[in-house]
Amino acid sequence: MGQIILVTGATGFIGKVLVAYLKKRGDAPRILVRPESDSLKAQAMGVDICEAGYDDHEKLREAVSGVDSIIHLAGVTRSVTREGYFQGNVMPVENLLRAFVDVNSSPARFVFVSSLAAAGPAPVAGEGLRETDPPLPVSGYGRSKLDAEHLCLSYRDKLPVTIVRPPAVYGPGDRDVLQFLQLLKKGLVLGAGDVDRQRLSLIHVEDLVEGIVMAARSPAAVGETYYITSPEWYSWDQLAAVAARELGVATVRKISLPKPLMRLAGTIAGFAGIVSGKTGLLNPDKVNEMVQDYWICSPRKAEKELGFIAKTPLEEGMRRTIAWYREEGWL
Ligand SMILES: NC(=O)c1ccc[n+]([C@@H]2O[C@H](COP(=O)([O-])OP(=O)(O)OC[C@H]3O[C@@H](n4cnc5c(N)ncnc54)[C@H](OP(=O)(O)O)[C@@H]3O)[C@@H](O)[C@H]2O)c1
Repeated sequence: MGQIILVTGATGFIGKVLVAYLKKRGDAPRILVRPESDSLKAQAMGVDICEAGYDDHEKLREAVSGVDSIIHLAGVTRSVTREGYFQGNVMPVENLLRAFVDVNSSPARFVFVSSLAAAGPAPVAGEGLRETDPPLPVSGYGRSKLDAEHLCLSYRDKLPVTIVRPPAVYGPGDRDVLQFLQLLKKGLVLGAGDVDRQRLSLIHVEDLVEGIVMAARSPAAVGETYYITSPEWYSWDQLAAVAARELGVATVRKISLPKPLMRLAGTIAGFAGIVSGKTGLLNPDKVNEMVQDYWICSPRKAEKELGFIAKTPLEEGMRRTIAWYREEGWL
């Protein structure tokens, strides 16, 4: 019998794939859903469900009792306020850590899924960030993820913690790469900042969940942080070429929106978001991330210490992702 693993954020893009992977491995995932979660999606996963708000200490203690490990995926990637990032990305980590330590005398592992955004972009081309590089987040999202990392590490002497930092993740169910593909289908690549210079790390969601579980199971990973990424750093031209082939798009036009224009658009959209209370695609924080040149990181530590190697070539990952979008009518 495998471990009882509590997965948070299970109804999200990565969470659904992680729960399916754990079930396939023979582990017993239990999912934590919030009162606001999509309960139909949760029930469809066919696993043990616990309901708890992250600010409900009693329910959280019930949710984590009898659990061997926690993989904490839940979080928010977009907010127009600092408070929104705190409530979505920091407070839940703090309360989960406390509950886990309170009810479990020998927890196996707490894995926090952070982000490359916690470290910020790499300063130069051709050198992906390493885990030892000092973090310099450029967004409220990144800063909240870094704050949550610090909280995890502050529990290091009470709990075996591991931090995983994925770069951009793509695969069936993702809505960010979907936007890129929707435009590309119309023959357009729309970039922000210096799109010819920009490079990014990517990971297919199935590779990521494998890496997360390897990190959760490895004794070497206790107290450690890992970039779980594929080794390549892609240009927008490379990504567009691979995806355009799959989409059957012959001609692609690339438009770079200059940084000042993007910042203005971000400010206006952010203001509209504050007034309407709705979190749109753009705000000053997201623009700050979009205009950076090198969102790149190195898989070397994960390779060396966990034996992790991303298996899905971009062509194959894009093919499967596009096929899924088509089947679901998203593209
Ligand atoms: N996708 C990427 O490219 C990427 C890259 C790097 C890091 N990450 C990190 O990976 C994790 C999962 O990302 P994802 O792409 O799967 O995101 P997602 O699809 O938005 O899923 C996140 C899940 O978090 C829960 N959630 C939503 N609002 C919340 C709130 N206010 N407070 C607490 N939980 C909330 C929801 O699950 P429930 O309703 O089930 O609770 C939601 O489905 C996140 O922590 C994200 O920061 C993602």
